[in-house]
Amino acid sequence: MTSYSFPPEFVSDLRARTNIVEVVGDYVSLTRAGVNYKGLCPFHGEKTPSFMVHPGKGIFHCFGCGVGGDAITFIKKIENLSYPETLLRLARRAGIDVTPYERRQGSLEAQAKARSERENLTRAVAAAQEFFVQRLRENLNGKVGAYLEKRGISPAQAESFGLGFAPDSWSGLKDELRRRGIPEAHAVAAGLLVRKEESGRTYDRFRDRLMFPIHDVSGVVVGFGGRILGEGEPKYLNSPESAIFNKRRLLYDLHHARPAIARQGCAFLVEGYMDALALYLRGIDNVVATLGTALSPENVQAVKRYTGRVAVFFDNDRAGRAAAFRALPLFMAAGIMPDIVTLPEGVKDPDELAAGLDDAGLREALERQTPLFDLFLHQRGAGLENYNDRLAFLREVIAMILLVPDRALRGLALRTTSETLRLAEEIVLDEYRRLRKRSNRRFGNAAGPGSAAEAKSADPAASMSLQPEEIILATLIDYPELVPEVEKEFLVRARNQPCLSLFRELAAIGKDCSDPGSALLGRLAEHDDNEALSALYARLVNLAVGVEDLETARRTINDCLFSLERRDSREQSRSLDQELSQCRDEERMFELLRRKMELKKKLLAS
Ligand code: UTP
Ligand code: MN
Repeated sequence: MTSYSFPPEFVSDLRARTNIVEVVGDYVSLTRAGVNYKGLCPFHGEKTPSFMVHPGKGIFHCFGCGVGGDAITFIKKIENLSYPETLLRLARRAGIDVTPYERRQGSLEAQAKARSERENLTRAVAAAQEFFVQRLRENLNGKVGAYLEKRGISPAQAESFGLGFAPDSWSGLKDELRRRGIPEAHAVAAGLLVRKEESGRTYDRFRDRLMFPIHDVSGVVVGFGGRILGEGEPKYLNSPESAIFNKRRLLYDLHHARPAIARQGCAFLVEGYMDALALYLRGIDNVVATLGTALSPENVQAVKRYTGRVAVFFDNDRAGRAAAFRALPLFMAAGIMPDIVTLPEGVKDPDELAAGLDDAGLREALERQTPLFDLFLHQRGAGLENYNDRLAFLREVIAMILLVPDRALRGLALRTTSETLRLAEEIVLDEYRRLRKRSNRRFGNAAGPGSAAEAKSADPAASMSLQPEEIILATLIDYPELVPEVEKEFLVRARNQPCLSLFRELAAIGKDCSDPGSALLGRLAEHDDNEALSALYARLVNLAVGVEDLETARRTINDCLFSLERRDSREQSRSLDQELSQCRDEERMFELLRRKMELKKKLLAS
């Protein structure tokens, strides 16, 4: 049997492409109730419907017996499948090609297969790029031309950036790819065509959109971002994750910007394709953008290959600020102290800024930079009144400084901290030393700052890696209402003692508390293990995984619980081995072997 290894992007893509009403509708007769659906719960006997499906949130819930979850939970439960089996089932249903996720056997044959898989997708994407560019040329007098003009992009500029146009057709690209002999399966796997669940028919994913090609670092087109012409949702449609398109690893326009970045010794990081394009058109070409996702450690490493100086240049709103602050610890862990370009009041984003200024004005505006860390201290820390908040903030900041691999940089950051928070430097240093010792000891962070291993440690990002327990807690701190749902399984599976203690404190607060954050800090202040737990708390708040909504939080937690379950299985398997090696009783041995086989199946399948 083939086994699969499904990355988180696959799972989120699968969710996005699964219609929960249709999935549940195969088992339950559903009737509409407002925007939701209801029916008789298939998991317990009932005569009046208390089973609800919320298509908008992609979840179901039974008010009768309390079961609930997403389409994956539903199928897993009702079909009694393992998690990977469930994913496979749903992927087939959604027409997602799972071959890229087949576990590599390490054989040359498998590697060659993976390579040819990537080549197939690349070929399909290259053909699509030619098609889109050609359609743009033909439609310069039509609405895409009008749109480009509105955005101040000349035809020649569009051409030089490889922009294209996906016509308003369900089969324009599909027919073209067929003419060129590109197999449909490749086009589906590359996300160019979408396969309908029910009929198996395919259609163009991108329709009536301005197409931004997205290249890998070597300049090969691997995917697209398609902007709607005018208003509508989604504003940008991106290629789904595939064997060649991984948002965590890609940065928009890096292939093109990298010589400029290396030459100028610094890089601008913006949020939008349009921002990167607008700056480029004004002669500022050391610019890269994330692909509509949070910055990843891989993104930071990619930039770091060319420069250690980065200026983030995000949208001028709360979301943009928050995104910049969330990116900060990632940079710091890579030894980069980024700057932030501050936009004048009323200017939305880099694109708008560029539009409103002449070249000299623009260059001047780009030079208005502040260290992001300093801005963070001022905006989040300087205004704090309450002592608990101030202490928690100090620890949060120190936890961040502890990520920095370079000793001198840590010193500078500590200095700024004491100045901004108006705390004597030796107090900040004391606290820093204390937390450092603790973080080295408690988290087994042998390669952390100040440790013997530090000098040799080549991968500061390693200190960023969080255990599943920690991710669960970080999420629960933001969504304490999920604690009751998680409690039972968490207490069974979690091993990390500080995490267990922190979880118990969080659970003790109860869901009716109006301000769980300060209630928790209050409880921690009285805890025997106060210092360690507060430090853990600060670290988790600081590294918070940035989950946007309750459902994502629930999924994140479920994914982590699942990896804890796997860890359990692996450990059980090890202890079975040990018992087996000493077992003399034949019947017992058979029983142990049977259990081992079962575990093995479970592990292989996941
Ligand atoms: P913005 O909404 O700031 O877009 O989203 P923008 O680049 O400034 O575009 P214009 O000026 O409105 O045309 C920033 C980035 O977030 C991603 C895209 O990568 C976009 O460039 N995004 C945004 C999506 O992936 N999907 C969306 O629906 C919206
Ligand atoms: Mn914009």
